[in-house]
Amino acid sequence: MTYDEAKKTLEAAGQGHVLRFWDKLDETARAALLAQIEALDFAAIARMQGILADAGKPVNAGSDFEPAPVAELGEVAHASAVAKGEALLREGKVAVLLVAGGQGSRLGYEGPKGAYPIGPVTEEHSLFWYHTRKLVGLAKTYGATVPFYIMTSETNDAATRAHFEANGWFGMDPADVCFFIQGMWPALDPQGKIILDTPGHIFMSPDGHGGTLAALDRSGALADMARRGIEQVFFFQVDNPMVEVADPAFIGFHASQHADMTLKVCLKRDAHEGMGVVVRRGDHFAMVEYSELTDEQMERINPDGTLWLRYGSPAIHVFSYDFLRREADKDMPLHLAHKKIPYVNDAGEIVKPSAPNGYKFEKFIFDVMPNAKTLLNLAFDRTQEFSPVKNAEGNDSPATVRRDLQAKWRGWFAKNGIDIPDDMPIEIDPAYILNADQLRTKGLRIG
Ligand code: UD1
Repeated sequence: MTYDEAKKTLEAAGQGHVLRFWDKLDETARAALLAQIEALDFAAIARMQGILADAGKPVNAGSDFEPAPVAELGEVAHASAVAKGEALLREGKVAVLLVAGGQGSRLGYEGPKGAYPIGPVTEEHSLFWYHTRKLVGLAKTYGATVPFYIMTSETNDAATRAHFEANGWFGMDPADVCFFIQGMWPALDPQGKIILDTPGHIFMSPDGHGGTLAALDRSGALADMARRGIEQVFFFQVDNPMVEVADPAFIGFHASQHADMTLKVCLKRDAHEGMGVVVRRGDHFAMVEYSELTDEQMERINPDGTLWLRYGSPAIHVFSYDFLRREADKDMPLHLAHKKIPYVNDAGEIVKPSAPNGYKFEKFIFDVMPNAKTLLNLAFDRTQEFSPVKNAEGNDSPATVRRDLQAKWRGWFAKNGIDIPDDMPIEIDPAYILNADQLRTKGLRIG
């Protein structure tokens, strides 16, 4: 793109100010800025400007919804779901998709969140170690590869790849691990103008985990899934090392009902736990974020004393490949957040504002829910599958995650008649033992 082309395009979009420091830029900076301008998605920017009118309005879920129905599998249904899921795993028709664009900053950790060391015994075992060792365990158990698609961000892609390389890909064949980078787009000031954070650079921010769909497509990962004959895609977030990756019962239940999307849901710890809830509005389903609910909605009690909105979403889903393919080309709703964004003033100086001065925009993956022809929710026991690391201390912190992981493993031993004392640290490599049954059939290997 030439300077003249950039100027014309920007002026037509009312963004001519992006070139206002052009005369002060050297050749390298000019080339970099032109490349940034060429990559801008002006249709998306126009959509962002369209929702700026909503800025400042409280986002609330309204009252036209009810909690979505939730399935629980009895013994027989569970056995048949497991058989179906295991068959799909054996046929190599299941892929795993992880969103890992975030940094560990909230944990005081400088690096990709997935590289955060969480092992209760082997301290350096990271969140990625747990996730990837489960895929190794699945491949051994079912005799077929489970390809791993990992969404990173521009901020953490190189460090994430380096972490995998430094750890021998945790035992996976690198050919079956596909990293793809999520999209970035500009932030806007309250007048809808693109923000420069240096005289020659447009401030960019990640497009949210909803950007996964477009990024899967753009990167060729969706085509790779098709080439491998993938039918079901298990989705999860990087912060939960308890997750039962590609759980056969979950995948089998979803596939046997020919669902587009199935979500795992669990009982909330309390009325105010920060989880999304699945609701039904008319004939379709949606996710309502905790921040969109009133206290009254969160605290509402059923006649039997249970919470009206008692199930939360841990962001563990399975999508049919066909559904992801269908959704990948569609525009998704945008959510805006008022943030402090560094900018250049008219004198060309960089300013770090002390109050929010602009808007970042994100897409959320669960916004595909209303488009699903069949969508199911499956209840699970959170003590076995959900303990995310979100905070440095308190609830959902490294300490609670290590506690919960060990309690789960002690439970596996207890199921096999072995009592491990609470004060004896314990850690199980999922590549060797994936579940309580394997503990019995494969036996113990210490060290
Ligand atoms: C999220 C869910 C919430 C759910 C909870 C369960 C949202 C908006 N909310 O909340 O419904 O109950 O998890 O733990 O998702 N990510 C990217 N790129 C991005 C943004 C996020 O890859 O641009 C990834 C993060 O690395 C992380 C995941 O998405 O793995 C979730 O993001 P986070 O901001 O931590 O969501 P929560 O507020 O914890």
